[in-house]
Amino acid sequence: MKPITINNQYAEAFFNEAQLQALEPKLKVAQQDLIQKTGKGNDFLGWVTLPNEIDEALLADIEETAQRIRRKAKVFIVIGIGGSYLGARAVIEALQSPFAGHTDTTNPQIVYAGHQLSEDYLYELLQWLDHTDYALTVISKSGTTTEPAVAFRILKNHLEKKYGKAEAKERIIAITDKARGALKTLATKEGYKTYVVPDDVGGRYSVLTPVGLLPIAVAGCDIRQLVAGAQAMSLTATKDETVATNPCMRYAAIRNVLYAQNKNTEILVNYDPRLTYFSEWWKQLYGESEGKEHKGIFPASVNNTSDLHSMGQYIQEGERRLFETVLSVETNHHTLEIPTDAENLDGMNFVAGKRLGYVNQMAQLGTIMAHTEGGVPNTVIGIPELNEHAIGQLIYFFEFACGLSGYLLDVNPFDQPGVEAYKKNMFKLLGK
Ligand code: PA5
Repeated sequence: MKPITINNQYAEAFFNEAQLQALEPKLKVAQQDLIQKTGKGNDFLGWVTLPNEIDEALLADIEETAQRIRRKAKVFIVIGIGGSYLGARAVIEALQSPFAGHTDTTNPQIVYAGHQLSEDYLYELLQWLDHTDYALTVISKSGTTTEPAVAFRILKNHLEKKYGKAEAKERIIAITDKARGALKTLATKEGYKTYVVPDDVGGRYSVLTPVGLLPIAVAGCDIRQLVAGAQAMSLTATKDETVATNPCMRYAAIRNVLYAQNKNTEILVNYDPRLTYFSEWWKQLYGESEGKEHKGIFPASVNNTSDLHSMGQYIQEGERRLFETVLSVETNHHTLEIPTDAENLDGMNFVAGKRLGYVNQMAQLGTIMAHTEGGVPNTVIGIPELNEHAIGQLIYFFEFACGLSGYLLDVNPFDQPGVEAYKKNMFKLLGK
């Protein structure tokens, strides 16, 4: 399997190798702090060794449960929010056809709930489920988060009315803490099949636990290849000690050298709509890990070429506080050639005979050049192909680099005290 790559040739006008090298000693300390569990937030570093510690029995159990659900249900609802939701969605959407919901008859359709509080969304979901065979998983590490708890209460009620309590129980899987929280109490009382979120893995680093692996397996993706990709990247991330060759160190160095130049907004760019939710996962990972003590790069994303026709103007000519990291998929699954048209009324014969993927690549290259010339440095992450192995590599790559980068910034990348403020107000307003 090919490794993902990192290429900063387009950003050379903004920094040089010596500036990256200068961060190497600090990065080596940060790397050891992650490995030896000696840095800030060290009780949440279980994700560092996770890919190599997932045991065969757990993988086999997840696959068996996934098969059982796949036999029973046409639709699988994943109830969760933040780190208990985005990882699964990021992987599933990167690997499935965007039209899977309409065209795929072999895999259940994966639908999400409990990731917001929209009344109309849930009402309309229930209306659809009245006529659709479904099962669900409810995922909450704390077991007390309002959004998924409310969605689960409503969907559990619907499921029990539709199938009866005994069959509903067979269609519910709870993923939560091993001992604490309301969801754990409920799951034990009702006798649901349950998976555990490890104590030492925080939500946004939990995609390679059952939190991500169960929904991904139900969707029909190969969780072993996903884990294998993460294992491969973890070897490089933890063993290689140079900024020149360790992609995680290099990425952490690049973004911090740019941050020191007051480039305080990083845009993750993709040229394939399948990666839209990967960017959402990445935004949570970096935003929640680094945005502390009034510090941190603001993580944003664009989906190109769509957003070149909207956000492209700002990126080209707006405030020069931006830098971009481009997710560049190198091989497509399919070939689609643009036909020649004798009349050429649309004026598109200049691309006739060319693959659409080639046109997309040229759009990408042209944009990278234009943005760089306009003052927005671009770094390119090369993804050999959108498959499980590459996505597994990417997940670990971004996680490890995030840990390194958070330590360079001298924050605790593994807590999220700021997310409590809105909850306090909401609970007060709701009379809790
Ligand atoms: O990364 C995090 O810790 C958060 O995004 C949580 O995952 C999110 O708030 C959901 O929490 P829980 O799984 O406890 O319901």
